[in-house]
Amino acid sequence: MSRHTKDGVLRTLRDIIVGPTRFATIATIFELGIPAQLETAGEEGMNAAQLAAVTATTAHNIEQLLQLAVKEGLVARSENGQYTPAGLALLDDGDLARITPWIGLVKEVCLRQVYHLTESVRSGETVGLKELYGVEGNFYSNMLNLPSLHETWAKAMAQVTALADPWLFGRLDFPRGARVLDVAGNTGQGAVLAHRHHADKDLHITCFDLPEKESAALATFKEAGLEERCAFIGGDALAAVPAGFDVITIKHFLDMWDRQNAVRILRNAYEALPPGGILYAMHLVYPEQGGGGVEEFFPAYFLGCTMAQGGPQKTAAYVAWIEEAGFTVTSVTEQDTTAFPADTIPAHSVICASKPA
Ligand SMILES: C[S@@+](CC[C@H](N)C(=O)[O-])C[C@H]1O[C@@H](n2cnc3c(N)ncnc32)[C@H](O)[C@@H]1O
Repeated sequence: MSRHTKDGVLRTLRDIIVGPTRFATIATIFELGIPAQLETAGEEGMNAAQLAAVTATTAHNIEQLLQLAVKEGLVARSENGQYTPAGLALLDDGDLARITPWIGLVKEVCLRQVYHLTESVRSGETVGLKELYGVEGNFYSNMLNLPSLHETWAKAMAQVTALADPWLFGRLDFPRGARVLDVAGNTGQGAVLAHRHHADKDLHITCFDLPEKESAALATFKEAGLEERCAFIGGDALAAVPAGFDVITIKHFLDMWDRQNAVRILRNAYEALPPGGILYAMHLVYPEQGGGGVEEFFPAYFLGCTMAQGGPQKTAAYVAWIEEAGFTVTSVTEQDTTAFPADTIPAHSVICASKPA
């Protein structure tokens, strides 16, 4: 493998070193609206002066920025200086709807904060949040203090949920008429998707999240016409999980915490369920078969930008935590990363478990 030659290692390091500037260049091309301009221009293309005029910059700057896009085959440049979309022309609206929230997430939530990653991993605190925004605590407990960051994060989270939940809910079975608690259910998108995928099951789903999510969750339920079938409870899953439910789902939450806190949340879920109660847990994994961009993105995201703890695990670690909390694991399924679009960054597994009767 070339990575084990000295040249291979040096090339790998070069690619890593230029990662942030590569990102900045391509993100700026998107922010200037160049892909959309080129798409509209079609086969004829546009030259740098024309692109400069419609993007309010200079021809020189356009030429500089597009060097990388041409090198990577995203854009083509003819001998007479006409730019056409090339690789970008292969993307449809659905592809762009997946990709652009991630560009926003990396720019708004990560780029500034990763400057402080080393201090965050040493101190166990989100130093970037404190230094840049003057807030204490983690990213999620600061929704009201960081509205623009949360707005950007929410778009990427909605995209991940829309991609992962259909895969998840296609694998789960719910007892008819079950009362379901979606722990860390955010603004209720998962509850709505669960209803959509199990419309015949007459479910009642309660979203449990930090209290500040209530109004957005209620709006989600109203918009979906599910006010009668969904509810919201505000609280802290580290303190307690509400009782009175047959099934607990925990999606994209155990991975935010170190083992001790994750097991605490699972114990709270265990206490809340009746004997025979069901737990469905879905979380980020380092996939056994590889794939995705898990290693590239999530350690820096969790440790430097949001939690100063947590991060994806191997599926076996989640199984061990769930068993440590008292559950009996009944099935484990890891996502086939090749079945998802090639730009997909996260990878998941779902673990089904039950509280012994
Ligand atoms: C990564 S999001 C997952 C959202 C949702 N489960 C999904 O899959 O789309 C994590 C959620 O955990 C919530 N959260 C963070 N700390 C929490 C706590 N201590 N108790 C309850 N919810 C919490 C956040 O508000 C956020 O909505």
